[in-house]
Amino acid sequence: MELRIDRQALVPVVQQIVDALAGWLRQDGVLPGTRLPSARQIARANLLSQSSVVEACERLVAQGVLAPRQGAGFIVAVLVADGRQDGPWFEGAEMTLGGASGELKLGCGGLPESWRETDDLTYAIRQVSRTDMAGLFNYSTPLGLPALREQILKRLLQLDIEVDKRRIVTTSGATHGLDLIVRTLLKPGDCVVVESPGYSMLFDLLRLNGVTMIEVPRTPCGPDTQTLEALLVKYRPRALFINSFYHNPTGSSLTPVIAQQVLQLTKAHGVLVIEDDVYADLHSGPGTRLAAMGIDDNVIYVGSYSKTLSSSLRVGFVVASDAIVSRLAEVKMTSSMGASRFCEAVLACLLASGAYRKLVQRQRQRLNTDREAALQVLEDTDWEVFGKPVGGLFIWARSRSCDFAQVCIQARRFGVLLSSVTAFSPGGEATDWQRINVAYACDPRARAFFQATALNRPQAF
Ligand SMILES: Cc1ncc(COP(=O)(O)O)c(C=O)c1O
Repeated sequence: MELRIDRQALVPVVQQIVDALAGWLRQDGVLPGTRLPSARQIARANLLSQSSVVEACERLVAQGVLAPRQGAGFIVAVLVADGRQDGPWFEGAEMTLGGASGELKLGCGGLPESWRETDDLTYAIRQVSRTDMAGLFNYSTPLGLPALREQILKRLLQLDIEVDKRRIVTTSGATHGLDLIVRTLLKPGDCVVVESPGYSMLFDLLRLNGVTMIEVPRTPCGPDTQTLEALLVKYRPRALFINSFYHNPTGSSLTPVIAQQVLQLTKAHGVLVIEDDVYADLHSGPGTRLAAMGIDDNVIYVGSYSKTLSSSLRVGFVVASDAIVSRLAEVKMTSSMGASRFCEAVLACLLASGAYRKLVQRQRQRLNTDREAALQVLEDTDWEVFGKPVGGLFIWARSRSCDFAQVCIQARRFGVLLSSVTAFSPGGEATDWQRINVAYACDPRARAFFQATALNRPQAF
């Protein structure tokens, strides 16, 4: 039994063994009653210490997955099912490809667990638990913890977004922010412009609220402004949803010229702009943002810490005019009694100490190295890339030499989980373009997958 253990990863080895064993049981559909190879055999085959393997098995016993065997060793206690709802999930995941936890989530939208860093986060959690009773037990305020909003304000200033603290409302992640905006400012039957391809969960949210979407094509420089103008004239939409930096799924960013045009057009047509910038901290320096050109009644800015610090902490924020922020805060209190004060306090602590700034610096460096390597692999294996991204998580690409069915077969062969063919289209249309997450693209399984797609290249006579 071969277990994939990453000794550089910050996830403790025992936990990695637990995950790998559970992944093996799930993937191979190992039946209850099956005897597990002995801890010594597993340890030897994977260059692990026997005690780590035994500890991992004990944890699986505690979870009811394994049972101690009379005599010695362990047997499988239950069939480890691949439940879609409880299993590994990412927005835009290919739903037909299984999704066992052992698969490499090449198409997913976040950083791998092994990239996440626990030390500073654990320290901040302890610090809040020990010193901040209100943080442990009380509701937060309607706008969110002042100490956190103070820190967000400082970061916004670095991005040239000049506002005061009363124009920031914290949310449980950007998703909550988008939800509040849609519920508060739009009504069923309203029409909005979304980018295509674009963020799949936004499309689901708009559908859920009965909002009609019209699509503007995303180019490597931002939305196609000629089409945008025509759409604004023809449909008179209420709002435009846009990703400024490291767009999901193409990885592209707004250029200053396109940003100016978007702002002029939307102002001229009285269209609200919702600028979703959740990948902002994966970029250093100011860059081009619509909100930096002036937050007024026209522009709403959405941010999050999910992509860098933790998707589990669920902290995000919305910046808007005074009037809009008060309405969002009211709906936030009515629907959820505010965001988690504890999580807000933990984040404020990490921001104030500078630990978060250093964390994102390290993530950016690592991503830059891996992006360069991934782009090289894609070039070598004859994949077409949609505008070479200079930062962030994503590369949008498709194979030139392999048809899409073959790409899927090769992905399955190498245990690679791709993004969905339809998720990034507002109208649910299929595409052969793939969202490649650079943080997964240097894994040997991803490299083997790309290489196998190149082997399908038609031979020249
Ligand atoms: C463009 C975009 N907006 C919003 C989100 C949701 O972020 P959060 O986890 O903060 O809700 C994501 C997550 O993938 C995203 O890609």
